[in-house]
Amino acid sequence: MSEDFRANAKQLMQGFCRVCPICNGRACIGEVPGMGGLGTAASFHNNVAALAKITLNMSALHGVTAPKTNTTFLGTELKMPILAAPIGGAQFNMSKGFDEEAYIEAVLAGCEDVGSLGCTGDGVPAFIIDAAVKSLSQHKGIPFIKPWEGKELYEKIDRVLACKPVAVGMDVDAAGLVTLRKMGRPVAPMPVSTLSEVVSYVHKHNNTPFIVKGIMTPGDAEKAITAGADAIVVSNHGGRILDHCPGTADVLPAIAAVVHKRIQIAVDGGVRSGTDVLKLLALGADVVLIGRPVCVASVGGGREGVKQYFTTLNQQLNQAMLLTGVENITSITNEIIYHV
Ligand SMILES: Cc1cc2nc3c(=O)[nH]c(=O)nc-3n(C[C@H](O)[C@H](O)[C@H](O)COP(=O)(O)O)c2cc1C
Repeated sequence: MSEDFRANAKQLMQGFCRVCPICNGRACIGEVPGMGGLGTAASFHNNVAALAKITLNMSALHGVTAPKTNTTFLGTELKMPILAAPIGGAQFNMSKGFDEEAYIEAVLAGCEDVGSLGCTGDGVPAFIIDAAVKSLSQHKGIPFIKPWEGKELYEKIDRVLACKPVAVGMDVDAAGLVTLRKMGRPVAPMPVSTLSEVVSYVHKHNNTPFIVKGIMTPGDAEKAITAGADAIVVSNHGGRILDHCPGTADVLPAIAAVVHKRIQIAVDGGVRSGTDVLKLLALGADVVLIGRPVCVASVGGGREGVKQYFTTLNQQLNQAMLLTGVENITSITNEIIYHV
């Protein structure tokens, strides 16, 4: 992303985000609402640290000259295995009074421009879902709805289904979200039986796939599969839910082993480069989501900023694949990771 866009983001995000050279959660400890990690921000820090400690086996003696980064996620063709994570509440998390519609429109349109996919978030104020629905009716994307109780949940699901999204997701970990509690609308953890009903409801509409976000253990992955999910997102919500969680790169291999390719796996948390993406694919993910840096790209550069950011990430991924000797996304294996 251009320096101009970053400088613009720095100005617009004052009081919310310092737009640090490396987005690692050190400058924004405890800033939730805001862009930081909850409490000591250990979960955010652990995401970044878990990725940083993984190293790659470099190899330049092979015949791979033009790696291909295209892939398929839940039946949708993508030019890269990198998606924008669902993020809601631009005006109280990112930039005072920032327009939610402008924010999410730039994310979905910018992602679409480069053959990626953007996700939309959800929250207490109606303007978050309103903006998501408006943008989803014009662009491909994946809405994530919070596990609300009663009719609010199904009303929101109906609204997003009407946009014919690629899939519908639910961040079940929102049960820990302090932002919802502060606005007087906390949500609770969801038993598998309730989750199954939600999944069946979504499946009944054009067989729309369902994604469960907020999986951090093999046991919860198995429960999501039991409930009928088509994909999971291994995620600790960017460290905004529960302090002292492990990094997602640390828990991913055991979860991937249990899932054993029965459903697809997305992962997020601290992903900042194409090399990070390659590491997570080698650890068992099918696609990777990126959160905070996409906010910076969208606030600072709009649709063009998002487009530039994803283009750079894809170039970095391509370069990393070239120097680890992998031809395409499906041939990435754990063998490219250096084991001491
Ligand atoms: C300001 C902010 C708002 C978020 N809102 C949502 C949301 O509405 N729904 C959701 O599923 N996740 C939400 N998340 C979590 C992200 O989807 C994602 O899991 C996390 O940001 C990934 O970590 P990263 O930011 O280090 O890349 C939010 C994260 C941030 C920073």
